[in-house]
Amino acid sequence: MLSKLFPPITALSLAVVFSFFASEAKTVHASATLPGEELARAYCGACHHYPEPDLLDRKTWERYVLPRMGHFMGIYTNAQQRDTLIEAGRAEALIRAAQIFPAEPTIEAADWQAIQAFYLALAPERLVVDSLVTEPGAPFKARFPNLFFSPPSTT
Ligand code: HEC
Repeated sequence: MLSKLFPPITALSLAVVFSFFASEAKTVHASATLPGEELARAYCGACHHYPEPDLLDRKTWERYVLPRMGHFMGIYTNAQQRDTLIEAGRAEALIRAAQIFPAEPTIEAADWQAIQAFYLALAPERLVVDSLVTEPGAPFKARFPNLFFSPPSTT
């Protein structure tokens, strides 16, 4: 009885062991292979709501928001930049203690590249503003009373 059961049990435990190693291997390489969107959902979504790339035009992502979010993850354009971001005075100690601008990157360089590439690839060149009001003042219409004060009264 036991000898009949033994091979399946062995096979099963080997399968478990191998699947464990297989998943280990996946975990190790995950950060290099995850697509930019998943990385963005994980990293950007860790601090606030995940923002879709089409919320801003490409230049705004590239020149303003991505570099600024990089600062929050310890990514700076040069060695001095971090100090210029940390204001002097009473706030300085608090900002440093809270590691608002970390001294070391908190994200792998490859992951940061993938996130930036994702935003820049999907961001629109320009934001669509069709739905915005194009007439000055619309949908409201200015109506002037027959008698009005100049300068206008606020009460
Ligand atoms: C370590 C925390 C942190 C991470 C990670 C982070 N953000 Fe932010 N984000 C903030 C904070 C704090 C603000 C508030 C405004 C500020 O100080 O710029 C903000 C504001 C924003 C804004 C509003 C515009 C602005 O400058 O205020 C956008 C858009 C944004 N983040 C996108 C992203 C994207 C995209 C990522 C991922 C690449 C990201 N954030 C990662 C903390 C973070």
